[in-house]
Amino acid sequence: QSVQQEEYRPQFHFSPKAHWMNDPNGMVYYNGTYHLFFQYYPDGTTWGPMHWGHATTNNFLKWEEKPIALYPDSLGMIFSGSIVVDQHNTAGFGENAFIAIFTHHNQKIEEAKTGLHQYQSIAYSNDEGKTWTKYKGNPVLPNPGISDFRDPKVMWYEAGKKWIMTLATKDRITFYSSANLKDWKRESDFGANLGAHGGVWECPDLFPLEHNGKTVWVLLVSINPGGPNGGSATQYFTGDFDGNKFVPGSKAEKWIDYGTDNYAGVTWSNTGKRKIFIGWMNNWQYANVVPTKNWRGATTIARDLSLEEKAGDFYLRSVPVKEMNAQLRPVYKKQALTLHKEIELSAYAKDLHGRLKLDFTFNTTKSIQVVLSNKEGQKLLVGYDHQTKTYYIDRTHSGAADFEKGFAKKHSAPRIATAINARISLILDVASAELFADDGLTVMTDIFFPKSLINGIKLSGNGNQKITNIVISAIPSFK
Ligand code: FRU
Repeated sequence: QSVQQEEYRPQFHFSPKAHWMNDPNGMVYYNGTYHLFFQYYPDGTTWGPMHWGHATTNNFLKWEEKPIALYPDSLGMIFSGSIVVDQHNTAGFGENAFIAIFTHHNQKIEEAKTGLHQYQSIAYSNDEGKTWTKYKGNPVLPNPGISDFRDPKVMWYEAGKKWIMTLATKDRITFYSSANLKDWKRESDFGANLGAHGGVWECPDLFPLEHNGKTVWVLLVSINPGGPNGGSATQYFTGDFDGNKFVPGSKAEKWIDYGTDNYAGVTWSNTGKRKIFIGWMNNWQYANVVPTKNWRGATTIARDLSLEEKAGDFYLRSVPVKEMNAQLRPVYKKQALTLHKEIELSAYAKDLHGRLKLDFTFNTTKSIQVVLSNKEGQKLLVGYDHQTKTYYIDRTHSGAADFEKGFAKKHSAPRIATAINARISLILDVASAELFADDGLTVMTDIFFPKSLINGIKLSGNGNQKITNIVISAIPSFK
């Protein structure tokens, strides 16, 4: 059986050929190539001693898996972290060296309870990520006495001409700065009394986004558990950063994705003003038991981030990367339709092999539901409920679910936009659904495990509802 034919295998999302993956790590753009590294266990299909796997792409749909980049060593496993391009050779490893800043997790210390088992280390590559050398002076940031001390995301802070490390430190974020990536100084803490705290804080990211000439700083924080629909999820804050402190602009609770299956996501480095995000399309609540066979784990579709201003506050928009558009082949387009009870569109989905994008605009004064089904009659329901002003994905009867008791559920998310008309974009890739509502203001990503490929689509509603600009597109397989 080829990789392409394996049950539940995504065809245009990244998944490793074999074995376990979790967080995306060290994404960096260089010389026309987008690099993705990831938490990888090459000896099994459940979480184990962590390595950094490596893959590259130039269109975010076709991925090439490369040899393992970083192996565990005497200091520990290689947990999550980031990569920067050291343009000015601040660390002395060479101009334009790739420098990985990651957490060493020492299991021996953890098990023996003899000390603090997480600390930050670096490694460098002078051949664009192919081969790596770990720095002899590791760790560069020893543990100051905190049980969870991990996932460094480093960026160049131009206004202060220094590197800033954003680190998850148990129930908060700690910022550090450095001139050379080797000597780190603590700047400040953020978040102990703000945001969601249903679980430990992990995998942060700090970056500026411009909006109408203003610079707004965005701080992503993944938490496990404590997500809006259970298990792990990623919240974010918007505000200001001055090289020392992050000051949030509001106390509102915000989630980059309200679905259950987008975790530990961060952005690519070295992409200038463009910010591209990717997450792990899974949830710690069941990641180790999902019913895939030769591998476990995949990434979300990569997403372009921008901001929307609303009542003096800022919200993230995430939409599928623009590179995706060139790969879509519309198979059905209609300007205007009236939905009475049902519109049957299965004729357009039946030959798409479970890979499609559906776009349409509807009027939010009424509820609407998209019913995606397969020949066994399993159903994934995606919709908008006008009473509660929420979007939802209901995977209760979508396929295999007996591997974990909380899996078969309906998940919902608030509508953040307020215009009467709403636009829905939905991306399916065999065993995942990604809902981008209102141009990415409300996003939900859910995985599901249908017995056979989705081959049916219908819209259902409750009378005289106008649907406009509906498009169904085929998406090729890149496997
Ligand atoms: C998040 C996480 C990180 C850690 C890594 C270990 O999913 O728990 O905090 O570095 O996974 O694989």
